[in-house]
Amino acid sequence: MTGCAIHFSDLHRGVRETSALDDALVALCHDLAPVLAIASGDLSNRGRVQELRRAKALLDRLPAPVLAVPGNHDIPYTLPGRVTRPWRAFEEVFGSVQPVVTAPGIVACGLNSVRPWRHQGGRLPGDGPGRAAEAFAAADAGALRVVVLHHHLAGAPWRAARKLPLKRRDAALSALAASGAELIVGGHIHQSSVVERHEFEAVDAPRGRSVVLATAPGLGRPRPRRTGEAQGLHVVRWTARELAVETHVWDGGAFVRTATRTFPRG
Ligand SMILES: [Fe+2]
Ligand SMILES: [Fe+2]
Repeated sequence: MTGCAIHFSDLHRGVRETSALDDALVALCHDLAPVLAIASGDLSNRGRVQELRRAKALLDRLPAPVLAVPGNHDIPYTLPGRVTRPWRAFEEVFGSVQPVVTAPGIVACGLNSVRPWRHQGGRLPGDGPGRAAEAFAAADAGALRVVVLHHHLAGAPWRAARKLPLKRRDAALSALAASGAELIVGGHIHQSSVVERHEFEAVDAPRGRSVVLATAPGLGRPRPRRTGEAQGLHVVRWTARELAVETHVWDGGAFVRTATRTFPRG
């Protein structure tokens, strides 16, 4: 069994859109033929329904099913809508803020990590591990089990401290690992980070399953003066034994593969 999925984040539609990038994304998907495209939030810049629709129009061009979750930019920017109807626009365009998509060789569970009363910080929803466990229990034995969040669990080495990782991330990671997640993807910080749990945490015996955390660079670049924001995406490939995450960066005209990290599964 081999599989390929594409994961991108932080499109920030509504500011600095370029058709060259859109066309390159579509072309890359035609080349790779991924079984699933994952968009991990901040699809829009200000949470406007028109911006979300433009993001959806791009995703509709991809030759693959799409799983999208909201980011902190995908809810109304101002009060009172930010609190009274945070998910209305996203649900109107994408249907659900916590979708589950099953495709050949993969099952992905989207979880909504956005807290409307926080502009930056995120948290694992209380029902998240249960939802993931339920989705994974119904999947084929060898299917890659993926959780999709907007907010990152693992930071990147060059990120400013302002964007904190998911709240109570130790407990969140333990709970998601117990649910059966093998790969947890996110974005939010616009920098790439790919790391396996046992590389940074002492997991008491039995050693436990491998859990890879993949934080994608930003697909969009809404703040061009911020040098601490990379532009690109991840390509995920897997077999029955291995999982690999490739980082592709946008050089202004094409996506260029800059790194591949490979991990044993299970
Ligand atoms: Fe973002
Ligand atoms: Fe974000």
